[in-house]
Amino acid sequence: MAETSITITQPDDWHVHLRDGAMLEQVAGFTARQFGRAIIMPNLTPPVTTVAAAAAYRDRILAATSDYPEFKPLMTAYLTDSIAVDEIHRGFVEGVFTAAKLYPAGATTNSDAGVTDVKKIYPVLEAMQNIGMPLLVHGEVVSNEIDIFDREAVFIERIMQPLLNDMPELKVVFEHITTKDAAEFVAAEGDNIAATITVHHLQINRNDMLVGGIKPHLYCLPVAKRELHRQALRAAATSESGKFFLGTDTAPHAIGAKESACGCAGIFSAPHALENYVQVFEEENALDQFEAFASLNGPAFYGLPVNNKTITLEKQAQQVPVQIGEDDLAISPYRAGETLAWKLVTG
Ligand code: NCD
Ligand code: ZN
Repeated sequence: MAETSITITQPDDWHVHLRDGAMLEQVAGFTARQFGRAIIMPNLTPPVTTVAAAAAYRDRILAATSDYPEFKPLMTAYLTDSIAVDEIHRGFVEGVFTAAKLYPAGATTNSDAGVTDVKKIYPVLEAMQNIGMPLLVHGEVVSNEIDIFDREAVFIERIMQPLLNDMPELKVVFEHITTKDAAEFVAAEGDNIAATITVHHLQINRNDMLVGGIKPHLYCLPVAKRELHRQALRAAATSESGKFFLGTDTAPHAIGAKESACGCAGIFSAPHALENYVQVFEEENALDQFEAFASLNGPAFYGLPVNNKTITLEKQAQQVPVQIGEDDLAISPYRAGETLAWKLVTG
């Protein structure tokens, strides 16, 4: 018999862009309403490269989520070529930085200050390996000669594998994986390697983005791939492996910045993240695996306790708003105007 309700330990979102200022105020509640904790991406302008900047940003997030006092933002450091080992080390020891994020320079939104050659930050990575601090990786090469659809697979061979050969104990989260290659790579590595999977990469392939007219609101990085990759991600997320966990990569951009001659990458999936994820697990006949993916595997990897609360989702149709916010803050949410099968009823 089909399930009509599911109650699980409250989930966490292990990859979130909350932005800053008025946009932060507008979007933060959507994440805090559903999740106990969220890993906050540091790609602000300027990026979050110091302990002081991360602590101040954390305070702004807490102020923006005061309706949800139990919500806990987990901060990350933005790695640059010149970042000091001491800063990363101190931030982790003081409990301000939960992890550090590696953006290859130029790979995505606000990544210009990112790392130009991973070898340049080897002293930082060695320190992270020693203290058990997770490295979160945007896994795409940026070389012009590499096709955008191949950039993740080439990253594994050119950067990820050599890095792990040099630092076999480093804890690494391969963020927002989009390919069969990445899912297989992560599954085959040791327990120190895990991956987040977004809901949109479980639901859309590149046809959804490009057939019948370009859909700028489905454009994100890493870009959605062909169907066989989506199927591999669905298999990984619903598998019994503890290496895969929830990370929405919700990344709001104003409608004007998306519907543009040079549209920004990023999908604002926060408002109905859990409803969309649970639908995927239902379609895969894997509702029994949903709690592990959403609520257990992430804390286990990060060495944190699971959340105390539970949340309940019910089979109940609801419509996604066509737009959230007004004027410069107007955003088109993921699956705008569509009807969803599930609804979060508590939490
Ligand atoms: C993110 C953003 O807008 O900050 N965009 C995206 O498409 N995911 C950056 C990122 O995570 O790549
Ligand atoms: Zn991201």
